[in-house]
Amino acid sequence: MTALEDAARAAQHAPSVFNTQPWSWRITGDTMELFADSARQLDVVDKSGKLLLLSCGTALHHARVALAAAGYAVSVTREFDPSRGLLATVHIEGAAEPAQTDLADAIPRRHSDRRAFGERPVADEELTTLRRLVEAEGAYLHVVRPDQVVELAISTESAAGAERDDDAFQAELARWTSRPSFTGDGVPPETAVQQGVRRVPLRDFDPFGNAAQPIGDAHDQGTAYLVLFGETDEPEAVLRGGEALSALLLRATADGLSSSVISDAIEVEWPRHLVRGLIAGLGEPYLVIRLGYLPDAPPPPPTPRRDPRDVITVIE
Ligand SMILES: Cc1cc2nc3c(=O)[nH]c(=O)nc-3n(C[C@H](O)[C@H](O)[C@H](O)COP(=O)(O)O)c2cc1C
Repeated sequence: MTALEDAARAAQHAPSVFNTQPWSWRITGDTMELFADSARQLDVVDKSGKLLLLSCGTALHHARVALAAAGYAVSVTREFDPSRGLLATVHIEGAAEPAQTDLADAIPRRHSDRRAFGERPVADEELTTLRRLVEAEGAYLHVVRPDQVVELAISTESAAGAERDDDAFQAELARWTSRPSFTGDGVPPETAVQQGVRRVPLRDFDPFGNAAQPIGDAHDQGTAYLVLFGETDEPEAVLRGGEALSALLLRATADGLSSSVISDAIEVEWPRHLVRGLIAGLGEPYLVIRLGYLPDAPPPPPTPRRDPRDVITVIE
């Protein structure tokens, strides 16, 4: 069905760790199945596969948004069949009132922006809206308080230090930041941001010193930092966490916010322990998200995407 193919194509825009796009779709009649592509799991950064599942969750939510905007009611079954890598099945149940299209319109516009955001703060009402959206997807959101930002900064700085000293990590980073263009994946230097002093340090995607994007004139003064978390690290909860991440990022994009994601603080044990402290041990942290406003600077060039023919299979 064309609507399902269109939805799978829309899902190609979803964010993923190191832009690995570790998913594939199989479409049969009125059903589309989402599979994890374990060959794309990052061996060093993501030993547990949690970042892969979060990434697949963002793709699943993108597909749901595209189908809702096209006027389809769907049911979603999240089922784990590790032998096949099956994560979820989306089934078209019938027609529905077309949903508002602002989220679907945000899909191709959303991108990670790692430049420093400006002074304008993110309004409390906006943060409340985002928290409710995340909770509707079965995850939770903690807005990092001003007195907690230093602890978050220590967490990301110490994660960066640990990964800098890890040769296997550096080799994996080098692999995913210097991919040949035909692969349609990875984080190319044109989209990487030059390093600079930050309130909360970000991952350095520029191991070869070729980053094209200046950090900008702002200093992240108004940036909101959010911890996305769930009750457990069970696969279904983490997949739902990815769906919640997509819901948050698309709403934020539709509302004119810029965003990027921080996962290094979760990848290394001690920094993860610090982030767990920020949420008072209430659950398992999945990611940190930064949101803010940028002056009118043009967006960075889009990161590449895989050839849909390698990702989407249609069974006639
Ligand atoms: C699970 C997950 C983890 C990520 N971790 C980071 C990170 O630590 N630092 C960062 O700058 N971006 C991170 N990203 C963003 C990806 O690098 C980005 O989505 C990908 O390169 C595609 O680019 P785009 O978001 O501009 O489409 C993460 C995204 C996901 C879904």
